[in-house]
Amino acid sequence: MDQAARNRGTAQPEAVPGEITILGLHKAYESRKSRFEALRDIRLTVGGNEFLTILGPSGCGKSTLLRIVAGLEDASSGTVLLDGEEVIGPGADRGMVFQGYTLFPWLTVRENIEYGLKLRGVPILDRRGVSSYLLRVIKLEAFDKAYPKQLSGGMKQRVAIARALANRPKVLLMDEPFGALDAQTKLEMQEMLLDVWEKEKTTVLFITHDIDEAIFLSQRIVVMGAGPGRILKEFQVRLPAERTPEVRERPEFLALKRELAQLLKH
Ligand SMILES: Nc1ncnc2c1ncn2[C@@H]1O[C@H](COP(=O)(O)OP(=O)(O)O)[C@@H](O)[C@H]1O
Ligand SMILES: [Mg+2]
Repeated sequence: MDQAARNRGTAQPEAVPGEITILGLHKAYESRKSRFEALRDIRLTVGGNEFLTILGPSGCGKSTLLRIVAGLEDASSGTVLLDGEEVIGPGADRGMVFQGYTLFPWLTVRENIEYGLKLRGVPILDRRGVSSYLLRVIKLEAFDKAYPKQLSGGMKQRVAIARALANRPKVLLMDEPFGALDAQTKLEMQEMLLDVWEKEKTTVLFITHDIDEAIFLSQRIVVMGAGPGRILKEFQVRLPAERTPEVRERPEFLALKRELAQLLKH
């Protein structure tokens, strides 16, 4: 073993890529007549390959925070770093999935998944390889030639996730992606997402106001409150890494659910 290798062996393990650092972030919406403080002093680090959920009531600034991390909106002050580099706009290193179905209706499922790759000039055979793999991951191989209007809500959201993954982002930013789905489909989508997260090793920053969803999916939950939007408390989710439906009945799950419900009531 040479000296460099020895040093690597004893040094700190290298950080997993996809680390988000949010430093002293403020956001105010200002018009000529008024000023609305949407976010106050948000500080948060999301580790590479971590699954972190932001849980909070409607209007507390969750979407605003996610849009700033996505680079779709500017903060009033403060900084967002991705692997130490300041975020100054949208980028292929961050894939977004929203609640609304944002697929292109005139493109097939496969063309929707390949859209970003095509824009970047990725050759067709490489695109086909990526989309075929992702169609398998989201279990929609049989629907590659279908158009969005032929799909159910859950299927459309699976395509939206595949489209976000096609660029091999370091981070998936998800804003209530399953909010519009029926209860059963929502549970299936949660399991599928954990499966994808395991395979792709991306960081996931997930937003929801659904307590069960937050606990089932996450390694860590950050609770936000409104007026102004701010972080109230943080919870480590102490459940087995493998989330089978039965974890919902575990005492740790139910205790955390009670605690979160209590906190959100105020
Ligand atoms: N472009 C905007 N101009 C003015 N106020 C806004 C704008 N976007 C969001 N807000 C306000 O900021 C607050 C937080 O909104 P949002 O981030 O959408 O909350 P959440 O996603 O938690 O429901 C809300 O009170 C909303 O009305
Ligand atoms: Mg929102």
